[in-house]
Amino acid sequence: MDEKINPGGCGCDMDLIGEHPILDFRRGERVAFFFDGRQMEGYEGEPIAMALHGNGVRVYRETEEMRRPRGFFCAIGKCSSCFMVVDGVPNVRTCITPLRAGMKVETQFGNGRVPDAGE
Ligand code: FES
Repeated sequence: MDEKINPGGCGCDMDLIGEHPILDFRRGERVAFFFDGRQMEGYEGEPIAMALHGNGVRVYRETEEMRRPRGFFCAIGKCSSCFMVVDGVPNVRTCITPLRAGMKVETQFGNGRVPDAGE
């Protein structure tokens, strides 16, 4: 994936709102997870897509035919724009899937590949 599109890896929250005058952000513990082999940090329980966004990641998958990059779109679990491979499972809607410590999140290319039973 293009490093200019997905710079990521800073481990900072520069793209997330820290405080808001009327909204209260209840955050879980800060935990480490992996995106395409790079260690990143996010808050346990927040959507995976938000943790990626906070780390500067904007492209989550590439379309099958045209190989077009996709990030999140609806952010409420109603489309397929944020599909990624999570802990080996393809087509996970990362905008509604909570982050857990140690998760392995990968860019999904095409329709994703379901691992064989022996893998
Ligand atoms: S962005 Fe639409 S389902 Fe996640």
